Parts: sequence; structure tokens; C-alpha cells
Amino acid sequence: MSEGRVALVTGASGGLGGAIARGLAAEGWRLALMSRRGCAEIAAETGGLGLAGSVLSDDDMHRAAAATVARFGRIDGAVFSGPRHADILAPFDSGPLPAPTRDVFAFDPGHPGSPLDLPFDAWHAVFAAMVVAPMRLLKAVLPAMQAGGGGSVVLLSGIEAAQPRATQPLGPVRLALHGMVRLAADRYGRDRIRVNAVAPGLMESGSEHFHPGWTGWVPLGRIGRNTETAGAVSFLLSEAAGYVTGQCLTVDGGLNRTPPL
Ligand SMILES: NC(=O)c1ccc[n+]([C@@H]2O[C@H](COP(=O)([O-])OP(=O)(O)OC[C@H]3O[C@@H](n4cnc5c(N)ncnc54)[C@H](OP(=O)(O)O)[C@@H]3O)[C@@H](O)[C@H]2O)c1
Repeated sequence: MSEGRVALVTGASGGLGGAIARGLAAEGWRLALMSRRGCAEIAAETGGLGLAGSVLSDDDMHRAAAATVARFGRIDGAVFSGPRHADILAPFDSGPLPAPTRDVFAFDPGHPGSPLDLPFDAWHAVFAAMVVAPMRLLKAVLPAMQAGGGGSVVLLSGIEAAQPRATQPLGPVRLALHGMVRLAADRYGRDRIRVNAVAPGLMESGSEHFHPGWTGWVPLGRIGRNTETAGAVSFLLSEAAGYVTGQCLTVDGGLNRTPPL
């Protein structure tokens, strides 16, 4: 158990972020929970502090870290969750993705799309939300973790790093995040701060975007439960993972066969 320790979780009103918050609360963590709309419900449910702000804003992120320290006096853990790529891409009117002609997580020679079909502004937006925003959380919590003698940071990624999908920026963008995880683990290991990623596969939270038949490619034969992503995050934040840093833990029912780092 992690009784009394303090974590800041972003995107905590969402499917995965909410499951992560519930999992950590059950482990005894005290929580600060942030999203643009403020996380009022999940904060009430978990006894946490709800905070309104965007992970895309330096000011909001630093205000969230400051509010966490003001309320609880310390930060021992931080978890980044945020917008899904479909929501990031929505304003760019890039049209529906062409349907896969075979396993969407493998080389698909019949796929009609190209990653170059996406406007470059869309690439920038995905990079901002999925690489720069996690770095922003890390930067915001570092001073409190250093002052407190250490900490653990977990950044949500995805399996596309190892298995890129034809028209999506996710593959290269996830790889960039994993590069940052390694760099941060190197740099802050001496401060006893661990930095890891969790890469979910097909989870129930995103299932409205899945094509029929995708689960047939998963060795376990089903979509993952949000609580199964949360379990991996809880482990990496816990003392049981005290010698684990710079890693990406894949939670995908066996779908991905290539190490994502
Ligand atoms: N679900 C999957 O199958 C899956 C698989 C692999 C990876 N992932 C990754 O896991 C993350 C979360 O996925 P999910 O399924 O939980 O998504 P979700 O249910 O849509 O939740 C997203 C959360 O992020 C918050 N959010 C959105 N934009 C934000 C911003 N600018 N600042 C702060 N909070 C923001 C939303 O709340 P507000 O609207 O209140 O801001 C919401 O709480 C995503 O990064 C996704 O890429 C998901």
C-alpha cells in the first residue's frame, strides 16, 4: 500500500485517467486530479482535489503542481493522461481514416492512405499533446519530488511506437515520448525519480473508434479493461517497482510483439 503518498494525475476525468485515479485511491494515495473541466466527479469519488486546467498550458500545469503541494505538502507520484489522437485530429478535418485492408497493427500493403496526407499542423498538434504535454507535467512536478527525496512519474503512451498505423502520426510521436522517458530516467535517476511509460493497446475506453474484428488480432481475444491499464500504472508508481526506470510497460493482451522502446 501507498498510504499517505501524494500523486497528481492529469486527464483524470477520462476512461483511463479515471480508472488510474480509482486504482491509486484504493492503494491509499492522496490525489490531485486535473482536466480542463475540473474532474469534480472523480475527485468526489476518490476524495481527491479536483483541478481545472489544460496540459497544453505551462501556467495551468504549474498551477496544478503548486495547488497539489499547497494542499498536501508534497508530490510523490505523477501520471500523464490526456486527449486521444482522434480528438486532437478532429479540428483538422482530415476526414475519416481509410479502413484497414488487413491487420491494422501490421504492414498493410493494400492500405490506400499515406502519413503525408495529414496537414503538418496536425502533426504539430499531436506532438504537442502527446510529447510536449507529458514533458510539461514532468517539469512541473520535479521540484517537489526533488525536495521530497524522490518520486515516480508514469506517462501514458500506446503500442503504436512499435507497430505504426498507416495514416496516423502516433507511431513516430510515441517513439519520441519513449526517447524522452529514457532521457529523463537518465537525468533524474540520481534524484531517485523514476520515469516510465505505460503503453495500452485496445482498451475499453477507446473502443468506440475500433473497427469490427480488431479483437481477433489480440492473442487474449478481447479488449483490455481500463483497470488493467490502471494496474500497470499503480505498479510503476509503487515501491514494488523501485528498481524500474526508463521502461515502457505494454498492456495489450499480447497484440504487440516488438519491444516498444
Ligand atoms: N483508450 C485507449 O484504447 C488508449 C490506448 C492507448 C493509449 N491511450 C492513451 O491514453 C490517453 C487517455 O485515453 P482515454 O481513452 O482515457 O481518453 P478519454 O476518455 O477521452 O479521456 C481523456 C481525458 O483527458 C482530458 N483532457 C483532454 N484534453 C485535455 C487537456 N488539454 N488538458 C487536460 N486534460 C485534457 C479529458 O477531460 P477534459 O475534457 O475535462 O479536459 C479526459 O479526462 C490518451 O493519451 C490516449 O492516447 C488510450
